[in-house]
Amino acid sequence: MARPSNLSSDPCTDNRRFHRQEKRATMLDEVSLSHLLRQPGPFVRNGWTYGEALGHFILEQELLPADRPAVVLEVGGGLGDVAAGIVPVLAGASRLAEYAILDLSPELQAAQRERLRDARTPVRLVSGDAERLHRTSIEADFVLSNEVIGDFRTIDGVPRTRGGPPTGGFSPDDFRHRRYWALAWDLVDRYGLDVPDEAEAPSFAVNWGAIRFVEALWKVLPPGGGAFLVENVTPFARPLELPDHREYSIGERHLVQVLDRLGFACSVGDVADFLHPGRIFTIVSPRHLGLWLASRVMSPDDRRAWDLFNDPVVDWGGRIARLREALGGDLRIDTAMAPETLAGCLRTAGLDVGLPGTNVLGRHFRYFNLHKSVAANTAAGSCSHSGRVRRPPVNPSRRAGRRV
Ligand SMILES: C[S@@+](CC[C@H](N)C(=O)[O-])C[C@H]1O[C@@H](n2cnc3c(N)ncnc32)[C@H](O)[C@@H]1O
Repeated sequence: MARPSNLSSDPCTDNRRFHRQEKRATMLDEVSLSHLLRQPGPFVRNGWTYGEALGHFILEQELLPADRPAVVLEVGGGLGDVAAGIVPVLAGASRLAEYAILDLSPELQAAQRERLRDARTPVRLVSGDAERLHRTSIEADFVLSNEVIGDFRTIDGVPRTRGGPPTGGFSPDDFRHRRYWALAWDLVDRYGLDVPDEAEAPSFAVNWGAIRFVEALWKVLPPGGGAFLVENVTPFARPLELPDHREYSIGERHLVQVLDRLGFACSVGDVADFLHPGRIFTIVSPRHLGLWLASRVMSPDDRRAWDLFNDPVVDWGGRIARLREALGGDLRIDTAMAPETLAGCLRTAGLDVGLPGTNVLGRHFRYFNLHKSVAANTAAGSCSHSGRVRRPPVNPSRRAGRRV
């Protein structure tokens, strides 16, 4: 199993080779909310799946062009869970002209083909790199990306001042580091990105690939087009170690700032808005507990889980039994509960965590709802939080039936 490279040895995490060559058709190595909620269940309104709830939200919020069925492109389809839910909802409302999925991973594309084989509306599978969306011939009215943009390239260890002192264990003359950091600083300057306080962090990370992706979206989306991006966010991007690759959370303020400068009208909200409006919940499953522990074990600055695993006096069987009891008797069922309750349960098992908002074991999933106005030009847009995007009417003269 490939291990993520050491932060100080590589200034830029790039998962593309992993997705092309090593990624297997499983979500066991991911923390995927949509996969956890792929079956109808009580944690999503009306007993919907995650994909169905998202489809209904897109319809309710009128995010698709009003004048014709839409060409929808999903970027990074995973096992096809989102498409399996969303396609019937949009097609059932006669709002879908075509649905396509762009993905880098041949293994996952094979899984998508199998999963969506019997879909009444055929789904087209396209191979390609979403970070180079503008280089493909893809045209869509609406782009959807669920829990993908954290996989894109991220530059880390960026000094708080341009050309400032490096903070990792590498030579200050290291050309490769300096090149990436200069690139990150170009983005900071171009978009007016904020930098953490010195007390907060000596260096910071920039979601370079996610920024390239939204830049490409601005280029490929037609006036009146839109996009809906869901990802795990933090105030500034942070590494998330998974068993065989490293992802990054999306620095929410940075992304909002970039979207605004590009000219998108956008709103930002919590996935609870479409899964279960008004409800704060946390989902826990033993698999994710395992992943959370694994990520702690691999994190050199937090040895709690490592110590816990290796403490000969810790009775793991007893801990798991206590956790199971605290969660209502069954660890195998994903459980919706108040964060404080879950934190209490984890504490019972000796794990002390704070869990605000909607999250899977500390991950906070948010959406970015983007709209490119009909009169799109380079004028700055306006991002609002948990608000509805105000959209001008769709340009009726736009070419109908764009092909993906
Ligand atoms: C964590 S999975 C999410 C899958 C799905 N959207 C879901 O919510 O279950 C990430 C997906 O994005 C794909 N992906 C990652 N990087 C990509 C890139 N640069 N271009 C296209 N697809 C990519 C992966 O192959 C995988 O299918």
